[in-house]
Amino acid sequence: MKVVSTERSQVLATRLATALNIPVIDARWQRFPDGEIYLRAMDSAQRVIICGSILTSDDLVEILLLKDTFNQSDITLVIPYMGYARQDKQFNVGEALSARAIAKVLGTDVSRVYTINIHEKSIINYFQTNATDISLSSPIADYIKTLSLDDPLLISPDEGALHLSKDVSSLGNWEYDYLQKTRLSGEEVRIAPKTIPVKNRDIIILDDIISTGGTQATAASMLYKQGARSIHTVGIHGVLASGAYSRLTSAGIYSISCSDTIERACSAYSAASVLADHI
Ligand code: R5P
Repeated sequence: MKVVSTERSQVLATRLATALNIPVIDARWQRFPDGEIYLRAMDSAQRVIICGSILTSDDLVEILLLKDTFNQSDITLVIPYMGYARQDKQFNVGEALSARAIAKVLGTDVSRVYTINIHEKSIINYFQTNATDISLSSPIADYIKTLSLDDPLLISPDEGALHLSKDVSSLGNWEYDYLQKTRLSGEEVRIAPKTIPVKNRDIIILDDIISTGGTQATAASMLYKQGARSIHTVGIHGVLASGAYSRLTSAGIYSISCSDTIERACSAYSAASVLADHI
């Protein structure tokens, strides 16, 4: 078995290969003059793990090119961050159910799919192949321990992330709570007032995705008003759109971290070993 990755996920793919003690295939990516993507893989494999997060449409095209190049192989597809998953319903008549559209096309001609903390679990069923969503609760808990905080309180900014806070807190014997969020626009959210015993406490706001940072910044502002001593944000997928990192920094957040499902300077913990255990 060998690992090959899109341009987006080279570091995680290499860490995964190291964890599994298997080789990485040299994949050469170039552009045609009109901007189209060209791929040449420098090796073949009977069994291959394709690793690629989807943050942009080009990331999706790169996965499709890899699937085609390895069409004679037994393919395991790892999608560390599956973009388009937040449009997981038809909220209005005529809307595309984006998560289904992407999953259907990626699930064909592969033997199995792994995703990591996919935004909505039920999307897994759209792949129409053997698909598993893996949770990073354990590396998150290990990472939080390295922060050496005094009895931190874990808070999820909405009910959707509550299961994550619950799972992670059980691994560190920490307390957890959650907030109630309403989305007003792509960048703005409202968080219902809630009194939480945060006075003089170190808080970790835990969420699956940090996109514009609006959710975390709004939650932090409320918690600081209630007397929190320090606020740290831990996300899994660091999308970091629209200047999110600066927005969170200026909201007074002490540390901003995410995993390497999207490779960022603030990727503080890795998905590789959990992925390797499942594969
Ligand atoms: C939404 O339900 C997700 O779990 C995140 O809370 C959301 O994607 C964060 O987005 P933003 O950083 O733009 O507030």
